Amino acid sequence: MRLSGKHIVLGVTGSIAAYKAAYLLRGLVKEGAEVQVVMTPSAKEFITPVTMSALSGKPVASEFFSANDGTWHSHVDMGQWADLMLIAPATAATLGKMASAVCDNLLITTYLSAKCKVIIAPAMDLDMFRHPANLRNIEILRSYGNLIIEPGEGALASGLHGKGRMEEPENIVEEVVKFFSQKKKLLNKHFLVTAGPTYEKIDPVRFIGNYSSGKMGYAIANELALAGAKVTLVSGPVEIKNTNPDIQVIRVESAKQMHEKCVSIFPETDGAVMCAAVADFTPVSFSDSKIKREKDDLVIQLKPTSDIAGDLGCLKSENQILVGFALETNDELSNAYSKLQRKNLDLIVLNSLNDTGAGFGVDTNKITLIGKDNNPAFFELKSKTEVAADIVAAIVSEMEKKRKIQA
Ligand code: C5P
Repeated sequence: MRLSGKHIVLGVTGSIAAYKAAYLLRGLVKEGAEVQVVMTPSAKEFITPVTMSALSGKPVASEFFSANDGTWHSHVDMGQWADLMLIAPATAATLGKMASAVCDNLLITTYLSAKCKVIIAPAMDLDMFRHPANLRNIEILRSYGNLIIEPGEGALASGLHGKGRMEEPENIVEEVVKFFSQKKKLLNKHFLVTAGPTYEKIDPVRFIGNYSSGKMGYAIANELALAGAKVTLVSGPVEIKNTNPDIQVIRVESAKQMHEKCVSIFPETDGAVMCAAVADFTPVSFSDSKIKREKDDLVIQLKPTSDIAGDLGCLKSENQILVGFALETNDELSNAYSKLQRKNLDLIVLNSLNDTGAGFGVDTNKITLIGKDNNPAFFELKSKTEVAADIVAAIVSEMEKKRKIQA
């Protein structure tokens, strides 16, 4: 029983695929999970709460209040109780409400109160699925750290054929098992993560920066925290707000400030992931007053910044793991591998500017992971949350390798 002791909230919405939620529920219970079912009002048109309550051994939650005695069904308690919330099937309407916090039923209020990871398995007709409004909602939900189980292609209830079928219940159960086996692998570990750009000041109103949004670094911090680690995130100036209590964010602006923080924190950690796009050069001097426009060319002399990853590579002890990033435009694999060696990294994540959908600002990334054995692992284009999960899985296996070598 691979899910013994796990608390799962199973959200069911009004889709023809709701009948599959009964098989899904049986699969979860068979694996030992304790499941609380939450149904939207329209889900009850497709499958009865009696079936779901009999299979879960618990009354189904659906209304905010009990019609009999006025007891309040606390979505907050449910959200706190759950180790995982699984929404399957998720209709376009529910995805839209989740993406914009429209709390007109208990499933959505529970979702917004949930402290745990949320896995969503959409189900709908192909045209509804591929509508830009629906795809945008899915992207929003991904960017909030939810995991989407893509629907499959095949015959649909409408008689049409295409993408929209909810993933089969047994495969969803496997995803849930995978999620829990990955989780908590880094319990009692402490990781340092850098994210975002740095700003190098020229004068009081100007700086040299770059397009890094910080999304990849924040996603890695989140996945490390989900795996049980305590995370210190040294972040350059970004728009993203951290809401995870297991992540301590230290905000810095310049490469120098980031360097100081990292060098002082790194020795207390089990490892670091250097995801920040740190400026390689900074102005030699800073003008206290705004530089005035003149007819002649303005020359700003730049000096190299310290290489944070390289310096941590020198400080690194045998037990620590150090992960760096490489954004290359040519001879990608060999350049990335020599960067790994030069900076004494254990793992390097290569992003290519040649891949559409990868790199700065966007919500997706396509990576290649290279370890000390120089045997690259190529990944498909994925959401940054999924990429972060792949990177954390590689960190976990790298740590296991180190442990074995030392044992
Ligand atoms: O040498 P390059 O800048 O391409 O190396 C990229 C890797 O080094 C990234 O992991 C980045 O976070 C890190 N880096 C750093 N300090 C710098 C420059 C890059 O930590 N000054």
